[in-house]
Amino acid sequence: YAVPVPENEPVLSYAPGSPEKAELKAELKAMRGKKIDVPMYIGSELVTTENKKRMAPPHDHKHTLGHFNYGDASHVEQAINAAMGAKQAWAELSWEHRASIFLKAADLVAGPYRAKINASTMLAQSKNPFQAEIDAACEYIDFLKFNVDFMTQIYAEQPESAPGMWNRLEHRPLEGFVFALTPFNFTSIAGNLPAAPAMMGNTVVWKPAESQVYSAQILMEIFREAGVPDGVINMVYVDGPVAGEVVFNHKDFGGLHFTGSTGVFQHLWKTIGENISKYKSYPRIVGETGGKDFIIAHKSADAKALATAITRGAFEFQGQKCSAASRAYIPDNIWKEVKDYIIEDHKSIKMGSPEDFTNFFNAVIDEKAFDKISKYIDAAKESNMAEIIAGGNYDKSEGYFIQPTIIVAKDPMFTTMCEEIFGPVITIYVYQAERFEEALELVDSTSPYALTGAIFSQDRYAIELATKKLVNAAGNFYINDKPTGAVVGQQPFGGSRASGTNDKAGSMLNLLRWVSPRTIKETF
Ligand code: NAD
Ligand code: ALA
Repeated sequence: YAVPVPENEPVLSYAPGSPEKAELKAELKAMRGKKIDVPMYIGSELVTTENKKRMAPPHDHKHTLGHFNYGDASHVEQAINAAMGAKQAWAELSWEHRASIFLKAADLVAGPYRAKINASTMLAQSKNPFQAEIDAACEYIDFLKFNVDFMTQIYAEQPESAPGMWNRLEHRPLEGFVFALTPFNFTSIAGNLPAAPAMMGNTVVWKPAESQVYSAQILMEIFREAGVPDGVINMVYVDGPVAGEVVFNHKDFGGLHFTGSTGVFQHLWKTIGENISKYKSYPRIVGETGGKDFIIAHKSADAKALATAITRGAFEFQGQKCSAASRAYIPDNIWKEVKDYIIEDHKSIKMGSPEDFTNFFNAVIDEKAFDKISKYIDAAKESNMAEIIAGGNYDKSEGYFIQPTIIVAKDPMFTTMCEEIFGPVITIYVYQAERFEEALELVDSTSPYALTGAIFSQDRYAIELATKKLVNAAGNFYINDKPTGAVVGQQPFGGSRASGTNDKAGSMLNLLRWVSPRTIKETF
């Protein structure tokens, strides 16, 4: 049953003069030169409506990328019907053939679609070429290939038998359809959420975030070209609560694969609970949600490495990674040195359009995010418990640009230290170097989230202490590294507490949530 052994996709450099840079530039130009009209994908139909929504780059309000066709409750019903109609044939197709389809999808992303998926992510989600490459190309290819490998292992797992009997385990797909509800910030996550349940024989209704529709459409084209049959993955653009109303009241609702904010997930969970008696089975609920990810340094930390981790961890993709460092606890003995390094790094950050490849830092996703993030910055400006030591300005006249902002808080409970901002803002609390254990306690108790976190120390005992004391404070814990950039197959990703069900995207644990095993015992 060996499938091709997965290896992490190499990250292309997009260096000046490289063929990948020329190809990506050409694709960006081509996409800028046309206006696309994105349909919904329901069964074999490409559905358009009278209700067209405009897509514009977050960094360039004046430009129109195209429109997508907005649907209503009736389109969600149609998508559910298409998913249920495709279900039996898909479940009966042998897993090797499902595996082949998704391996082909991975090859399409790696080859002919790489520039397209990266360019769409750059234009519509405002990611620089490196951030697009590690997300839309590499992480997505890894999700597909590693999941196929995990899938093989799942189907190969069989119980012991004894003389005169044969025990078997059948990994059936769930009864009903799976609802995939995806966020704007990672194209790879958006593509993985429908693909993982589909791989395990389920059919899916997928509603992407509105600001990710451009790249979502390319993912749908890849699924189709790879051979995913009509109706197996259906994509609709409908107001979230309207879609939820139809899905969560449907008797055939079988599972939710969600990534997004904690508040939305908790609301969905409650709704599912209220409707529980309507369903044939208890639905599977998998959700990866918000974070307030931390870096804590010990007095022995390497100041330069720590400063780099703060800058990259907090500001790559404008801090809009669920894993982004957004609070840091620095001991006073190294603070001056760390501060000098981060201010120096900050001065070198170039902000602007991702289409200019020299810009590290681009726009935040939309006006709602811009307003929310700028309010947090204003709160720091207005408080005598906080000081902004770098950045702090914002401007939405041409695009949603917010400077990378570093706040130093006098109070470890200051609002920007505790709440998820989901933007380019990090708050630092400087603690007395001898009170490391108390600082660990602050990390653990200050926020309800537990997604990612990092300890910087050159003292092994301090590392061990932090690892033990922060056992429940992060699902992904880094020692002397930034808390972002988990690689599929190397650091399975996900958090607990208010950060999610911790079913580790891109792992066997996640795929196991999309099957309902049947045990068969036969005696002779
Ligand atoms: P969001 O919660 O606003 O939206 C997620 C999806 O849910 C979108 O498709 C949205 O349209 C839909 N939705 C919103 N309200 C709904 C409702 N009432 N009913 C049904 N659907 C609804 O999240 P976002 O802004 O797209 O993404 C950012 C959030 O995602 C952050 O909180 C971030 O931490 C989190 N995130 C977590 C992870 C992780 O692995 N833990 C990864 C990426 C993003
Ligand atoms: N894989 C992404 C990260 O770890 C979510 O930053």
